[in-house]
Parts: sequence; C-alpha cells; structure tokens
Amino acid sequence: MRRLVSETTLRPRQLILPLFVAEGAERPRPISSMPGVVQHTRDSLRQAAADAVAAGVGGLMLFGVPETRDAVGSGATDENGVLNVALRDLRKDLGDDTVLMADTCLDEFTDHGHCGVLDSAGVVDNDATLDRYADMALAQAEAGAHVLGPSGMMDGQVGVIRRALDGAGHTDTGILAYSAKYASAFYGPFREAVDSQLTGDRNSYQQDPGNAREALREIELDVAEGADAVMVKPALAYLDVVRAAAETSPVPVAAYNISGEYAMVEGAAAQGWVERERTILEVLTSIRRAGADLVLTYWAAEAAAWLD
Ligand code: PBG
Repeated sequence: MRRLVSETTLRPRQLILPLFVAEGAERPRPISSMPGVVQHTRDSLRQAAADAVAAGVGGLMLFGVPETRDAVGSGATDENGVLNVALRDLRKDLGDDTVLMADTCLDEFTDHGHCGVLDSAGVVDNDATLDRYADMALAQAEAGAHVLGPSGMMDGQVGVIRRALDGAGHTDTGILAYSAKYASAFYGPFREAVDSQLTGDRNSYQQDPGNAREALREIELDVAEGADAVMVKPALAYLDVVRAAAETSPVPVAAYNISGEYAMVEGAAAQGWVERERTILEVLTSIRRAGADLVLTYWAAEAAAWLD
C-alpha cells in the first residue's frame, strides 16, 4: 500500500554521475575526502562510465584534472586537453546511450584556481572570461559532449555559449546552466578532487547563502539566454531554493548533491552513526521531493543499481 501511494519517484534515469579524469594518471587515485570516488585514468573512466550507463543512470558529468595549469586555463580549450580527450573517448564508446555532459569552467585549468581569468588587479574579469567560455564550449561540443554545464557563474555565460554553439553549427548541443550556485563551504572535498589551486574565495561571482530571491532572478536570466535546464547547487542546504525554482522554472531543474554533502554521509556511515544505504536514498528522495527533476550525485551508479 505504501508503494501504491508513494508520491515521489526516484529513478536511475533521473540521476547524473559526476566523474573526474586526471591527465597522466597511471592508476585511479582515491580522493581521501570523498571515500569511494577517484580521479580516473583515461581507461578506468571508460569502464566507470560504461558501468554507470549499464546501471541506468540518465547522464554523466565530466571534470578534467590537468597536469599543468596557467593563468588562462589553456588546457580547457586545447583539443588534446584531458577533458576534451576524455569526452571523445566516451562519446566514441557510448554514442547516444547516455547524455554526456561536461563542466564548462576554467577553475580546474587555471593556476590561480578561479573560474575565470583575472584582471591586472587580480580580480576575476567577467567579460574576458566569457570569451574563454565560448572557446571552451566549442572544444567540448566538438569533442562530443551532448550538454554543457557552465558552472562559473559569470554574468552572460549562457548567452555567449549559446551563440558560439549556434554559430558553429552545434545547434543540438544543450546547456545545463549552473544558475543558482552558492558560495558554499560544502565544496571543500571537490577542491581535493580536482587538485584546486584556489586561495581565497569565490564570493565575487557565487551567490550569498542568505539569498533566495536572487536565485530566481539568476534562473530567469539564464532561461532568457537559452538555458535548456537550470541547476541549484548545493542541494541539501538549499532545498527551499530547489522548491522555488521547481515552481517557477519553465525548463527542467537539476540539483547538485555536492562533494561536502557526500562526504558528510560517507563520514557518518563509516563511523556507524547512520545506515549508509537508507541515508543515501533518503537524501536523494528529499531532493526529488523538493522538486528537482534531475539529481547530480556521486552515488548515481550505486543508487541506480539499488533502484532497479
Ligand atoms: C566549478 C565547479 C565546482 C563544483 C562543480 N563545478 C567547484 C566550485 O565552484 O568551487 C563543485 C562540485 C562539488 O563540490 O561536488 N568548476
């Protein structure tokens, strides 16, 4: 009877698995603050992606970890850069069996760790960054990404990427806009996951955790610029924002259950303080119940197997 009247569905197709691929890695490298998550080699990434697709996940979101970095994040736009190479591998292996997505952001590739390029005062230069994002978007589309995930929170990023894609004939490449991305302490483990070089913070471009109305404004702007789906991030500490987005957005809403949220559950479960599987499913269900159509989660493949 509980099954008959259950209000919220949690299905594998609604889950997106973020994956990390490290240039030059000879074996998968564990990420200590994210037990169970690794920086993949080129080959182990292909295996993990195939396994996730076999488990039924709806999509994959790829992040690259380059060996060398510079001020403008050259590796992001280089067709031989780690992320673009991995996209080509996965598109070749998987074709259209899943939705292949890429993080369209410079922070993994810059030697200062910011999401954009800096001006002479060392402050992120919004408009100069947009030019880099347009080039990065083209490189990723050409490498085979179905959907791009601009996550740098630069004003105008969705419009610039849409125009660049359309101008080069990539009219079918979609945009999952990280529209409402908060300046969150929960990104901590991700910094280890991508060997981030960041010192300081992202407060000049990510949102104040106290602001909810601003999220709706950001979503409205991204939709007007051509976003095919929008995202709220992090998820758990922002479920009210997910709900508000779901009620107003004309396009699908994604929520990213991020690294620090993953680490909290894994840490507590490792101590025996919470039941791991039940906790994970409750977390994911709560994000769906708040109104997210899609959930990005490091548990996507594992949870998909449980849900089958
Ligand atoms: C930026 C980006 C970040 C995450 C996804 N894309 C880091 C940041 O904004 O600091 C975080 C994901 C996570 O914490 O799980 N490229």
